Amino acid sequence: MCGIIGYIGERDVISVLIQGLKRVEYRGYDSAGIALFGPGGLLIKKDKGKVAHLEESVNGQQIESSAGIGHTRWATHGEPNAVNAHPHTDDKNFIVLAHNGIIENYMALREELRQSGHEFTTETDTETVAHLIAEVYDGDLLEAVRRALKLVQGTYGLVVMCADKPDEIVAARLSSPLIIGHGDGENFVASDLAAFVQFTRNVTYMEDGEVALITKNKIVHKTLADKVVPKKIEKISFDIEHIEKGGYSHFMLKEITEQPRTIGDSMRGRLLSEEGTVRLGGMREKEEQFLGAKRAVFVACGTSWHAALVGEYLFEEMAGLPVEVEYASEFRYRSPVLDDKTIVFAISQSGETTDTLAAIQEAKRRVDTVFGICNVVGSSIARTTDAGVYLHAGPEIGVASTKAFTSQIVVLAMLALNLGRHRQISAAEGHRFIKELREIPRKVGTILSQSEKIEEIARQYKDHRNFLYLGRGVNFPVALEGALKLKEISYIHAEGYPAAEMKHGPIALIDDEMPVVFIAIQDGTYEKVLSNIAEVRARRGHVIAIATEGDKDIAKCVDHVFYVPETHPMLSPLLTVIPLQLLAYHVAVMRGCNVDMPRNLAKSVTVE
Ligand code: M6R
Repeated sequence: MCGIIGYIGERDVISVLIQGLKRVEYRGYDSAGIALFGPGGLLIKKDKGKVAHLEESVNGQQIESSAGIGHTRWATHGEPNAVNAHPHTDDKNFIVLAHNGIIENYMALREELRQSGHEFTTETDTETVAHLIAEVYDGDLLEAVRRALKLVQGTYGLVVMCADKPDEIVAARLSSPLIIGHGDGENFVASDLAAFVQFTRNVTYMEDGEVALITKNKIVHKTLADKVVPKKIEKISFDIEHIEKGGYSHFMLKEITEQPRTIGDSMRGRLLSEEGTVRLGGMREKEEQFLGAKRAVFVACGTSWHAALVGEYLFEEMAGLPVEVEYASEFRYRSPVLDDKTIVFAISQSGETTDTLAAIQEAKRRVDTVFGICNVVGSSIARTTDAGVYLHAGPEIGVASTKAFTSQIVVLAMLALNLGRHRQISAAEGHRFIKELREIPRKVGTILSQSEKIEEIARQYKDHRNFLYLGRGVNFPVALEGALKLKEISYIHAEGYPAAEMKHGPIALIDDEMPVVFIAIQDGTYEKVLSNIAEVRARRGHVIAIATEGDKDIAKCVDHVFYVPETHPMLSPLLTVIPLQLLAYHVAVMRGCNVDMPRNLAKSVTVE
């Protein structure tokens, strides 16, 4: 969602801010802006639209400046336009700030401030905070931010500057990530490492309820209650080429294509072939709780929720452990039944999804240990959970999640195997499973090498207005994921269903305008899926089947068939999802859609 960058130091401030904003563009936004200290005081430049547009408007301006902040806004309160774009100021242009999150009590605060003479110019919740800080300021910016935030309800990642203090940026965090980058005679603050990683890899993570005073040579972390918080600087390993397109036309295509490597990275050093099990370092401290569980609850959103559904099949089949999969956004508004033998797993690519973080907080009230499955190292979810496993899939920039999905399944498969070996699986079975797992990257490679076949199918169906995706068993979540990918990036309406459910309603939609994508691999439900295909064909629907290599018969009863190599049935989603990712990608490109930054979507959803 919104992105923040702040910089203080000797470099060209405008250029650092613009580069930083470009690095966080992938998070999704609709306006962008910067504020800096120029020779004549605070300067603000902001507008609706892309960072490139903002860049054009400041191009060639050599403005000597000591510090600045920048922001990409994903509109919540007030339409996306130049006025509502961040940074925002109070009515005296004294305080300027950029904010991620939502100020829930802004209406009440605004009213009070109005009564004390403040005039507001935007529709945003954020502007209120600038006025509030200006109202309580008496010479100490950090102190004013602290005092103002005590009156604020809501969530924030906040960077603040003040016309009086050209050598200071103050940052504050509550439920919206901020990371500080420590340089030599310069410092950075951002909502996302990518914004400054080309300048420094030395970072400290701000925690909820903390404020920080950032100057070029010093950073002081405090709590809102004014207690100094000692911090350890961490060195992050992060390859800059991971956040660049590397010759691909889109990040999404790059990320789909790199799956043989990322799937391999997720298992690297973790498979113990001889013992037929896995070693997951991050689980060690809480292994007893994990292995002693009688039930598991998975919480997640979107694609991660689909991976969790695959995990449910894996855990139940391989370990005999009952699993419930919950939408993180619903979890805390129910009365989830959890006891000390229930383990909770939060699954998230970004590790910053607000709904998932809220579900973790709710779970923590009821169970001892919450486990995390995350991609972003050091993310809020990674730090809030008690133990867990990283995906090691590398930064995922495309808004549509692809490589994180397959890595999440790999991690869930490893966890299921680990648990299964303690409960019901023999070493020989474990060994066979690992053998199949090791083969997956190569098999994904063979699917990718046939991308043009999918491109051809995409060409034929790109103008259809609706799609249906059907699968059964462990491939039912893949049907959901295929449909989500298509609707996210091509704006075509698509639905995923368990194949047999079709006759309970969606069959009414089938006519010769409806393409139906079936995952029809040769597993325990194959024959049943063939019957479902016949039902669609009888109603003149167009069938695109994802089938098992060597299955010649299926070609006779569908319009198009795309073959994937055979594998262990429980690992088949790692293969069947790849053609569906490619289908969505090609359709979106052919329709001229913005694949990496689809309309209205954000990479990490940091609002409720
Ligand atoms: O970062 P997370 O995995 O927690 O994100 C969850 C969803 O917001 C995310 O998967 C979303 O559905 C993607 N746009 C899917 O492509």
